[in-house]
Amino acid sequence: MKKLAIIGAGGHGRVVADLAGLLGWESISFFDAAWKEKVTDSRWPLIGDTSSYLEKCNEFDGVIIAIGNCEVRWKEFLNIKKSTTSFVTLKHPFSFLSQYSAIGSGSVTFAGSVVNTDAVIGNACIINVGATVDHDCVLGNSVHVAPGAHISGGVTIGDGSWIGVGSAIKQGVHIGKNVMVGAGAVVLSDIPDNATFVGNPARIIS
Ligand SMILES: CC(C)(COP(=O)(O)OP(=O)(O)OC[C@H]1O[C@@H](n2cnc3c(N)ncnc32)[C@H](O)[C@@H]1OP(=O)(O)O)[C@@H](O)C(=O)NCCC(=O)NCCS
Repeated sequence: MKKLAIIGAGGHGRVVADLAGLLGWESISFFDAAWKEKVTDSRWPLIGDTSSYLEKCNEFDGVIIAIGNCEVRWKEFLNIKKSTTSFVTLKHPFSFLSQYSAIGSGSVTFAGSVVNTDAVIGNACIINVGATVDHDCVLGNSVHVAPGAHISGGVTIGDGSWIGVGSAIKQGVHIGKNVMVGAGAVVLSDIPDNATFVGNPARIIS
């Protein structure tokens, strides 16, 4: 029986568990820092926190971090990587990944998403429902492309950045590390590290 551990038992975690079941994982267990306070989901057991997973990691065939916050997801990825390298990459059967694209370990693509020709996606990334990453884009580690965001060709995005729901990024733009692009933003020019940009055309707010 193929056993998967999912770190993060929130809404995103349940979506990842749902996808994993679809992809044939027969046993799915959650681990979460707040496991004592969380209500146990009848579908998938919530066993303990990340330390509990690390004690039992040899019992699992794979692990994925399903935490929406990019910084926390990456911290957990690095923490777990010290003990196991059995990260899985989950690709929804209704997402399209070009045969000439690449996607890192521990990343996930959801229904309706597209990763086009020669695009490169890092580790622990989320390409959410209906998001598109066009040709020649390069996304770092722990990037989250939220539902319905569209990234045109040749865009680069630094580690830990979050591209908000329904946003649009013009071709060739460079987005730095730990950037937040707001919901519905239209990004027409480069964004420096650690900035939050919103609106059309996108402007800095912090
Ligand atoms: C950009 C964002 C992170 C800003 O959050 P915040 O730091 O809490 O900022 P605030 O809500 O205090 O807003 C600050 C200002 O920016 C404006 N603003 C915030 N988000 C905006 C957006 N997406 N588009 C346009 N303006 C926005 C606010 O109206 C406010 O303007 P004001 O100062 O004139 O009143 C957040 O609004 C957002 O868009 N998050 C993305 C959500 C998302 O994509 N979720 C996907 C889940 S999978």
